[in-house]
Amino acid sequence: MIKIAPSLLAADYLRIGDEIRRMAGAGADYLHYDVMDGSFVPNISFGQDLAKRAATCGLPVDAHLMIVNPEKYVDAFAEAGCKIITVHAEATNHLHRALQQIRAAGCLAGVALNPATSPECLRYVLGDFDLALVMTVNPGFGGQKLIPGCVKKITEIRRMLDGAGCDAIIEVDGGVNTDTAPMLMKAGATMLVAGSALYGAPDAKAFIDTIRRQSDDMLH
Ligand code: DX5
Ligand code: ZN
Repeated sequence: MIKIAPSLLAADYLRIGDEIRRMAGAGADYLHYDVMDGSFVPNISFGQDLAKRAATCGLPVDAHLMIVNPEKYVDAFAEAGCKIITVHAEATNHLHRALQQIRAAGCLAGVALNPATSPECLRYVLGDFDLALVMTVNPGFGGQKLIPGCVKKITEIRRMLDGAGCDAIIEVDGGVNTDTAPMLMKAGATMLVAGSALYGAPDAKAFIDTIRRQSDDMLH
C-alpha cells in the first residue's frame, strides 16, 4: 500500500494545525516536515519546536533534515516526537553513525540522496536504514518540476534493496502529482511526498484517492 506524505512546506502557515488535520482527514499517512538551514540548501524553513506542535495534529511526522551536520539535531527532532528522521548522505561525514544515532533515539532512520548523488552510497549501509529518500528535484524549494533522470535511480535502489532482502521504504520527494505518481510507483517508490500539488488541489482526498487507485491498478 502506497504511503502519502503531504509536505508542510506548501501549507498555509497561518493555519498550520488545521492544514495538518485537513491532510489527516483526507487520508494521508505521514506529515512530511522539511527542515532547511540556509546552508545545506539556500532556503530556511522550520525547526524542532514547531515539529513538536505539528506532531500533535494527527499525523506521524516524517522529518527531512536538509541541514549540515544533521547529527547535531537528531536528538532534538526525536524528542519533538518525529517518527522518521532522514538525513542527507551529502550532509554528514559519518552517515553510518548518524543512522545509528537516529535508531538509538527510537526513530526510523532515513537516508536522502540529492539528484546528482549515486545510489551506491546506500550499499554499505544496507540494513542500517529504514527508508531511502530519492530527491527528484534539487532540495530547497517546493513547486519545482520533477527531474526525469532521477526516476532511474528509484529502479536501481529497488533492485539493490530487493537483492539484499531489505524491506526499507523508498520515498520520493519533489514534483509529485497525479501525473508523475504512476511512473514513480512503477519504478519502486512505496511512499510519495506531495507538497504544492496536494495542498493546492481543490480536493485533497480526491488527490490521495487517485494515487491509491493508481497504485492498486498497478498491482492487479
Ligand atoms: C524540497 C522539499 C520537498 C518539497 C516538495 O526541498 O524536500 O519536500 O516540499 O514540494 P513539491 O511537492 O511542491 O515538489
Ligand atoms: Zn522533503
